[in-house]
Amino acid sequence: NANGAKAGKSRNIVEKMEESGKNCVIFYGSQTGTAEDYASRLAKEGKSRFGLETMVADLEEYDFENLDTFPNDKVAMFILATYGEGEPTDNAVDFYEFVTGEDTAFSESNEPALGNLNYVAFGLGNNTYEHYNSMVRNVDKAFTKFGAHRIGEAGEGDDGAGTMEEDFLAWKEPMWSALADKMGLQEREAVYEPVFGIVDRDNLSAESPEVYLGEPNKMHLEGTAKGPFNAHNPYIAPIVESRELFSVKDRNCLHVEVDISASNLSYQTGDHIAIWPTNAGDEVDRFLDILGLKEKRHNVISVKALEPTAKVPFPTPTTYDAIVRYHMEICAPVSRQFVSTLAAFAPNEEAKAEMVKLGSDKDYFHEKTIPQLFNIAGLLAQVSNGEKWTSIPFSAVIEGLNKLQPRYYSISSSSLVQPKKISITAVVENQMVPGREEPFRGVATNYLLALKQKQNGDPNPEAFGKTYELLGPRNKYDGIHVPVHVRHSNFKLPSDPSKPVIMIGPGTGVAPFRGFVQERAKQAQNGAPVGKTLLFFGCRKPEEDFMYEKEWEEYKEALGDKFELVTAFSRQTKKKVYVQHRLQEYGKEVNELLSQKGFFYVCGDAANMAREVNAVLAKIISTERGVTEAKGEDIVKSMRSSNQYQEDVWS
Ligand code: FAD
Ligand code: 2AM
Repeated sequence: NANGAKAGKSRNIVEKMEESGKNCVIFYGSQTGTAEDYASRLAKEGKSRFGLETMVADLEEYDFENLDTFPNDKVAMFILATYGEGEPTDNAVDFYEFVTGEDTAFSESNEPALGNLNYVAFGLGNNTYEHYNSMVRNVDKAFTKFGAHRIGEAGEGDDGAGTMEEDFLAWKEPMWSALADKMGLQEREAVYEPVFGIVDRDNLSAESPEVYLGEPNKMHLEGTAKGPFNAHNPYIAPIVESRELFSVKDRNCLHVEVDISASNLSYQTGDHIAIWPTNAGDEVDRFLDILGLKEKRHNVISVKALEPTAKVPFPTPTTYDAIVRYHMEICAPVSRQFVSTLAAFAPNEEAKAEMVKLGSDKDYFHEKTIPQLFNIAGLLAQVSNGEKWTSIPFSAVIEGLNKLQPRYYSISSSSLVQPKKISITAVVENQMVPGREEPFRGVATNYLLALKQKQNGDPNPEAFGKTYELLGPRNKYDGIHVPVHVRHSNFKLPSDPSKPVIMIGPGTGVAPFRGFVQERAKQAQNGAPVGKTLLFFGCRKPEEDFMYEKEWEEYKEALGDKFELVTAFSRQTKKKVYVQHRLQEYGKEVNELLSQKGFFYVCGDAANMAREVNAVLAKIISTERGVTEAKGEDIVKSMRSSNQYQEDVWS
C-alpha cells in the first residue's frame, strides 16, 4: 500500500475503535512532528484527566468513507498542520481531498451525512504565509457543511508569531470543558500513568547484533537497507565534498555535496533534501546526566507500548544512549506542559514548587526559559541546582519529547548538471546568548559542520570523533555519511527555458537559485534559447558573506547578458540595502519580464523578507501598469494562483 499502511492492518477507524474499546480518536496531519506531538499530549491528558479511552491516529493510515457511521457517543479530534502554500501535510493529502473535494461519498446524501460526528479541531499554521491555517479552516467548513458537530472552538496556533505552544495550551482548556459537558465526563485528579514499559534486557550487551544503536529500521540494522528511501527510511549517503562558503567569527556557511548514485533516489532542480541529524555528544551527556542515566547509558532495554494503539517511536532493543542521541529532540525549546508533568518527579520540594510555577505561569515560564534558549536538560539543571532528577519515569521522557526531526534544505544544484549529486547550502546556527556559558547551537547544522571537520581531518578541538557519533559505535559506513531523503517540491523553473525568470534570494535563500542558474547555464551550453535570468542576491558585505561569488562569473560566461546578478549589501553603507530595494529600482524591467510571462521566485526568510518582496512587487505593478495598489496586489495574488509567482520560504 502506497500510503504506508502495513499489510493486514485495518484502515477502518470505526472498527478499530470498537475492537480496542476506544471512545476518542485523535488524528494528526503532521509534517515536522509538532501536530503529532500535540495529538499524543491530548491523548494522554484525555485519559489521565477525564478517563477517556483515547488513541492517536496517523491520517494516512485510515480511510474516511465511513466517517458517516462514526458513533455519536464518541469523539474524533483533528490536529492539522498547514504546510507551505496552504497545502496539507504529506500524510493528510488523501484525507483532505476526500473531505473537501468535489466527489466525497457524503455529498449525495439528503440527510446531513455527518450528523452523528462529534469533532474537535486545532490547526497549526504560520501567519507569514498567504494561506494561514487553511487546512483546519477548510476541514472545519466541510465538516460543518455535512452537519457534523464541533465541540469547542476550532483552535489556531501561529508559528509565525512564535506563539504555537501557548495558542495550543490556551485553546485546549475551554475545549476540555466543552467536551466534558457534551460527553458527561468527570474531571479527576490527574495521575501519571506510563504509556510505555521499559524492560531491562540484561542478557544483551550493546554489542549484540540485534541491538539498535541508531539504525532507523531493521534493514539498516541488518545491513540490507534498500529503497524506497523516504521519510521512514533514509538513505545513508556518502558526503563527497564539504567546504565553507564563508566563515567569519561565529558565522559559517557550508556547501555540502552528497552522492546518491548508489541509491535509487532521484531529484529535480528545486526539490528539498532532508538531513537526519544526530544530537551533539555534549548535549547527550548533559541530558543523561541530569536524569541520572549516565551510568546506565549503554544498558540494553526494550520499550513496549502498554496500550495497543500507542507506538514506540524508535526501534528496540536499544540503549538509553542511542535513544537520546539519535531519536529524541532533546535540544528543542521546552514545552510548558511537559514541565508541569515533570513537577511530580522533582528531586526536592523547592524544585517541585518552581516547576509548578513554571508550568502554570506563562509569563514567568517565558522569562525563565526563552532568553537563555534553554533545552530540557538546561532547565532541569537550573531548577534543581544540578541535583539529579532520578525519579522521572523514562516513559514520561519518551512521551514528553518530540521525535528527532529531519531538517529540510533547498537543494542548491541542478539535476540536469549533476543528477546523482545533491548540493546543500546551509548557514550554521550558532548564537551567543546572555546567561549561557556556551553558544546556542542548532542541531542539524552543527552536525553538518562536524561532519565537514571530520571529512577534512580538521585539527579542531570540536572535531567529530569527540562530539558526534554517526550511527553509533557500530558504524558500518567507511568515510563520512549522512542519512537523507528527498522531498519533491513544486518550486520549479518554467518548462520552456526561453521564458524569463526573476529570482529573489538573500542569504541561504540563494540556495535553489544556484541550482536554477546552473541549469539555465547548462541549457544555454546545450544550445537552447534561454531567456533573461535575473537574480537578486543580498548579504551583509561583499568581503564577508558573498556566497558563490566566483561561480556566478562562470555562469555569466555561459549565459552572457542573459544572466544578471543584482546585489544588495546590507552592512556596507549606513543605510541598509535589501533585495527588495534593488527590486524596486528594477521595477520597469521586472514588469516587462513579467509581461513576457516571466516567472517570479522568492526563497529564504518567510517572516519579513518574503512579505516585503510581495508588497514591493505589487507596488511595481501598480506604478508600471497605472493601476491602483489594490489592483497591483490582486495581480500578484493571481500570479501566485497560476504559479507564475512561487515561494520556497521558511522561518
Ligand atoms: P535547530 O536546532 O532546529 O534550531 C533552529 C532554531 O530553533 C534556533 O535558531 C532557535 O531559534 C530555535 N530553537 C531551537 N532550540 C531552541 C531552544 N532550546 N530554545 C529556544 N529556541 C530554540 N536552511 C538553510 O540553511 N539552507 C536552506 O537551503 C534551507 N532550506 C530550507 C527549506 C525548507 C523547505 C525549510 C522548511 C527549511 C529550510 N532551511 C534551510 C532551514 C533548515 O531546515 C533548518 O531549520 C536550519 O538549518 C536550522 O536547523 P538546526 O537543526 O541547525 O537548528
Ligand atoms: P541584515 O542582517 O544586515 O539586516 C541575508 O541574511 C541578508 O538578508 C542580510 O544582508 C540581511 O541583512 C538581509 N535581510 C534581513 N532582513 C531582511 C528583510 N526583511 N528583507 C530583506 N533582506 C533582509
